[in-house]
Order: sequence, then C-alpha cells, then structure tokens
Amino acid sequence: MTVAEIRRIGVVGLGAMGAGIAQLAVEAGYETVGRDVTDELGHEARDRIAHFLQRKVDKEQLAGDAREHALGLLALTTDLADLADCDLVIEAIVEDLPAKLALFSELEGIVRADSILATNTSALSVTEIAAAVQSPARVVGMHFFNPAPLMPLLEIVRAELSSDEAVEAAYTVGERMGKRPIRCHDTPGFVVNRVLIPLLNDCLRVLDEARVSPEALDTAMTAGAGWPMGPCALVDLVGIDVHVHASEALYEKLREPRMAPPPRIVAMKNAGLLGRKSGRGFYRYD
Ligand code: 3HC
Repeated sequence: MTVAEIRRIGVVGLGAMGAGIAQLAVEAGYETVGRDVTDELGHEARDRIAHFLQRKVDKEQLAGDAREHALGLLALTTDLADLADCDLVIEAIVEDLPAKLALFSELEGIVRADSILATNTSALSVTEIAAAVQSPARVVGMHFFNPAPLMPLLEIVRAELSSDEAVEAAYTVGERMGKRPIRCHDTPGFVVNRVLIPLLNDCLRVLDEARVSPEALDTAMTAGAGWPMGPCALVDLVGIDVHVHASEALYEKLREPRMAPPPRIVAMKNAGLLGRKSGRGFYRYD
C-alpha cells in the first residue's frame, strides 16, 4: 500500500546531489526535511540553495517571495527520526553499499508503512539496496544528474520488487519537479551511465594516447562533438571519486574493459584530487 499523494519529502545526505534535490523539492512546493550528519553540513546546503535561488531572482526567473516561500519549506535535521512523517525519502549519501543498506534498514523503522524510499545511486543496484528492507516494493531508484537543478533528466529505476505504485509516484514527483523522467529497469548503470561511464573512460585514455592536455581534449569534445562541457571538466564536476566508484561498480558487474577506470584517474582519486569539491582535479578551482 503506497501513500496516495506525496506532500512531504525527506532528503538524506546534503552534498552536491542532495542539496540540488532538496532545492528541486522546495521549488516544487514540497515540505522538505533535509538530513545530514552535522548541523554545519546542513547549513552549507541551505546556503547553497539560498544562493542559487537568489541567482534566479536576480535573473528574474523567480519572484523574491517565491524564493522566501521555497526556503521556508526546507527544514534541516541531523536526526533521521525527523523523517518519520515523510511520504517519500530520497537517499543521496556516499556511494557505499553497506552504508546504504544500513540507512535503508534504519529508515524503514522510522517512516510510515505506506511511504516510499528512493535511492539516487549512480551505479549500485537498487535491488540490492532494497534487500535491506522488509518491504522492498516501496523502494525505487530516482537517479538525478549533476547539477540536479539544471539537468532535465531523471531516471526512475524499477528494481526487481518495486511496486507499480511506488514507480508511478516517483515519476509524478519528478514531473512536478520539472524534470523529464524516464522509466527504466535496474540494470548496471541504468541508461545514461551505462553509456557515459565507458565513454568518459575512453576520453581519459585518449589524454595519454594522443598526448593532449585536458584543455585540448575538452576543446576537442566541445568544439568538435558539440558536448556542453568537455570530459575533464565534466569528471571534475561529477567528482573524481564518484566517477571512479561508478566505473569500478560497472566493471565489476559487466566485465567490459572500457568500464574499468584508467589508472591515471584512480591515482588522482588516491591523491585527493577529487575535482571541484576538493578545489583541484584536472583543473584548479578557487
Ligand atoms: N545547482 C543549482 N544551480 C546551479 C548550479 C548548481 N549546482 N550550478 C549552476 N547553477 C545555476 C547558476 O545560478 C547559474 O547561473 P549564474 O552563473 O548566472 O549564477 C545557472 O545555473 C546557469 O549556470 P551555467 O552558466 O554554468 O550554465 P550553463 O549554461 O553553462 O550550463 C551545465 C551548465 C548545465 C552544467 C552544462 O554545462 C551541461 O549540461 N553540462 C553537462 C553536465 C552533465 O553532463 N551532467 C551529467 C553528469 S553525469 C551524472 O550526473 C550521473 C552521475 O550518476 C555520475
């Protein structure tokens, strides 16, 4: 039995993706509870959302009072128990299966029996995550793209035991957030990452094979292939740790050599060069 209408959304994990998802939720008029492990992380996310909504006001894409209303819909907490009344909880924590299993198991003990639990995982199996709960019918994937407020696509992922009601409720929420949702099944990488991860890894291998700089490769793919941003800039945006994890997860499942992360990017991850979030990746960010 799934809740008849989604009114209140919980977002767990308020990093770049979670903050973007919370922004979409409040802009769509949902009461939203954002949870991270410290108050500081929660406040950083709220500041980020407030900043991007202010930019929309500055550019006359949003009225000033609509910004205030949206920000007023966002509550922050460090306590998972505060998500008890949420009709839908979207998980956007670290891409670590044991951490997600523990979270889903704990969440199931907190939320109502009719609420939906969604994961924003990039490359883990939604079905495996759903195995953590007693009622896996309530679990779906809601895979947003980075930056979540700007990228139109939302993959609504049906796991092996997802109910039709949960899938359709997630789809409806995506539409109300202004996304272009698609329904897909729980296959490795779903739709986009199945294609994009090996493609980005090919691009990164070309750096060494063709002996070009990141700037030259990015120019090649923007000016020569019409990409909105070059592959090095994109991997910096997504996060080098996230990209390496997604590559490893897909390689583990599909065993296609192109899925494996090139050694160069694994070394960057190990050195803490994570892209925009750490201030340095292929490029430097002040
Ligand atoms: N959150 C909210 N708002 C944001 C934002 C963010 N993270 N980043 C920028 N904005 C807002 C800003 O207010 C900005 O306006 P301002 O500069 O006047 O303040 C406004 O959006 C427009 O920003 P840009 O000028 O940077 O917008 P562009 O027109 O250059 O487009 C882009 C930016 C949409 C990121 C475009 O370059 C693009 O489409 N890039 C490709 C991104 C992509 O492929 N993403 C998918 C990655 S794969 C993935 O996420 C899957 C995962 O599982 C790994």
